[in-house]
Amino acid sequence: MTAHSSRLLAWCRPGFEGECAQELAAHDAAAGGGGFARAARGSGFVEYVSDNAAAIAGRWRHLVFARQLLRVIGHAQQMPVRDRLSVLLPIIEGDPRRWCDAWVEAPDSDAARELAPLCRGLNAALVAALKKQQRIDRGSRWRLHLGLTATDAAFVAAADVGETAPWPGGIPRLRFPRQAPSRSTLKLEEALLVLLDDDERERWLKPGMRGVDLGASPGGWTWQLVNRSLHVTAVDNGPMDAGLMASGLVDHLRADGFRYRPQKPVDWMVCDMVEQPSRVAARMAEWLAEGWCRYTVFNLKLPMKKRYDEVEACFAILREAVARPLDLRAKQLYHDREEITVFARLGTAGAR
Ligand SMILES: C[S@@+](CC[C@H](N)C(=O)[O-])C[C@H]1O[C@@H](n2cnc3c(N)ncnc32)[C@H](O)[C@@H]1O
Repeated sequence: MTAHSSRLLAWCRPGFEGECAQELAAHDAAAGGGGFARAARGSGFVEYVSDNAAAIAGRWRHLVFARQLLRVIGHAQQMPVRDRLSVLLPIIEGDPRRWCDAWVEAPDSDAARELAPLCRGLNAALVAALKKQQRIDRGSRWRLHLGLTATDAAFVAAADVGETAPWPGGIPRLRFPRQAPSRSTLKLEEALLVLLDDDERERWLKPGMRGVDLGASPGGWTWQLVNRSLHVTAVDNGPMDAGLMASGLVDHLRADGFRYRPQKPVDWMVCDMVEQPSRVAARMAEWLAEGWCRYTVFNLKLPMKKRYDEVEACFAILREAVARPLDLRAKQLYHDREEITVFARLGTAGAR
């Protein structure tokens, strides 16, 4: 039997369990392992079993389809409705770690939505029990996770806070800014939050910088840049939001985003054009290779089938066309549907 310590739990977008499993298997294989996934379509999570699990447990940042990646300690089943902790605590007590915090989560699936109130109640009871046992240590690098998959079943798992998503369920809860022209503004906000760290956001997104937004109408992505006091050239044949134009920080150009090139290099280029992903990837590579921008965030809309292969093919296009070290980061964000969001710049990622 495989030990619990060799299991991982990944939260993902419901419907993308196959891609998440494929990606975990690819990382496992690259690290010399050969595990397998247990995944039910639509469940919003993947359980991955491998003797090599420890080697890939820290790879959340490098995974496109996993919103979170946790190390499974145990699995609680048939928890009594009135006293779930009677089953959970013995599993938790079997692990010697002290925890900086404990989160009770459920998958992001329709079926699991009704577990939310239970998660909240159980979270409070769990933290109280751990405090009583003096198992909470705010300085610990480990966070305890309970992944509730049914009212009577849960994964018990651990997360190293330095290498996992700092949001329950791997989902940053963002509030829609009232002045923003479209909901897709949240996609760029989430991308900047998830794909960059605090230090990078501060250094790479400075007031007075210049940006280009390809496929900008009505202006949700442009708004994010303007909100950080960047000057933006918004390229789209569609109209831009009047309030955003009144900021004085936006030039609207009615032009083809696949042909436009800036007269002078800019700091940022963002692109939300709905097009074939390989075409977008090739165009983004051209911007980087030509030095037209230093940083880029763009969307790749995924096809119906072979979505993982398509992502790999697009990354290959980018790497090949740029032909220099490329810092490439990508996630299927909470605000992404049948798509992923990519950050890229010339250079190596380094220790993030
Ligand atoms: C999903 S919308 C962009 C929404 C925008 N990011 C926002 O936050 O409000 C895609 C936009 O891409 C534009 N678009 C598609 N193909 C284009 C092209 N070749 N050149 C310029 N814009 C294009 C469309 O007109 C559309 O406004």
